[in-house]
Amino acid sequence: MNLTYSNINKKYKGGKLALSNVNLTLTNGVYGLLGPNGAGKSTLMNITCGLLKPTSGSVKLDNKNILSLGETYRNLLGYLPQDFGYYPELTASEFMDYVVTIKDCLKSDVDEILKLVGLYEEKTRKIKTFSGGMKQRLGIAQALINDPKILVLDEPTAGLDPKERVRFRKVISDLASNRIVILSTHIVSDVEFIAKLIILIEKGEILKFKRTKDLLDSLQGKVWKCQLPLNKIEEIEQEFLIVNLQYDQKFATARIVSDTSPFPESEVIYPSLEDVYLYYFKALPGPN
Ligand SMILES: Nc1ncnc2c1ncn2[C@@H]1O[C@H](COP(=O)(O)OP(=O)(O)O)[C@@H](O)[C@H]1O
Ligand SMILES: [Mg+2]
Repeated sequence: MNLTYSNINKKYKGGKLALSNVNLTLTNGVYGLLGPNGAGKSTLMNITCGLLKPTSGSVKLDNKNILSLGETYRNLLGYLPQDFGYYPELTASEFMDYVVTIKDCLKSDVDEILKLVGLYEEKTRKIKTFSGGMKQRLGIAQALINDPKILVLDEPTAGLDPKERVRFRKVISDLASNRIVILSTHIVSDVEFIAKLIILIEKGEILKFKRTKDLLDSLQGKVWKCQLPLNKIEEIEQEFLIVNLQYDQKFATARIVSDTSPFPESEVIYPSLEDVYLYYFKALPGPN
């Protein structure tokens, strides 16, 4: 299966270009879509789902324009929108049945999916009694109905606690072998270990589209660990991109992204995806 984006441009009415000349080809696997707020992630996802038409360009599934595939394409699709509307008075299982009805598919896999996201035991509880993380897991669950071959998850880990995030990563990894999974997140560690490829997007343009490992390798020799005397910190902060600082009594240990050694006796360390994010976007990933 091949999802190909050709020369996609998107301009909202009265707005500037939200997507600019996007070209991508996706095959089975997990794709992490990373970029600051307003970069165009949700726009790209809405276009992927056929909910939004590009101003120019096309998305094709195996050479057929998704907009002409209509229902055939929608049946292949699972989507978790960034702002997901819940139905507070429904129970989890009533809500799932409702989605089954609108997706016009078989009910059979609902319990299985609820087990997968860890909500089976809670399926008779009303959604209004759910925590944020539980609601988010229900959002992921509804996207999985009908075994979609293309799964589009817009900020799926927002509101999940660390334990739920670990479970989420496992669920997604298990699903990824025979489908295309595109997920956006501002929590870089959520995609670092499960995404085959990373798409870095900024101001509507694809900055990088690379294998996660290649992206990490490209930062080799640019991530440093150094011990800074406390009185040097402010100066170094002005000049360098600091990923984190750990304070001790007499000094602080800094993790710094820089083309050259930031401080005498800095030690080169292996890059993480967070370093990559900071290097390309000059800011740490934050909530959208
Ligand atoms: N419905 C809309 N009308 C006008 N502008 C929009 C609309 N949706 C998004 N935008 C603009 O398009 C750009 C990309 O937005 P979005 O795709 O939501 O980014 P992200 O999901 O990366 O935060 C932003 O500048 C945003 O303000
Ligand atoms: Mg968004």
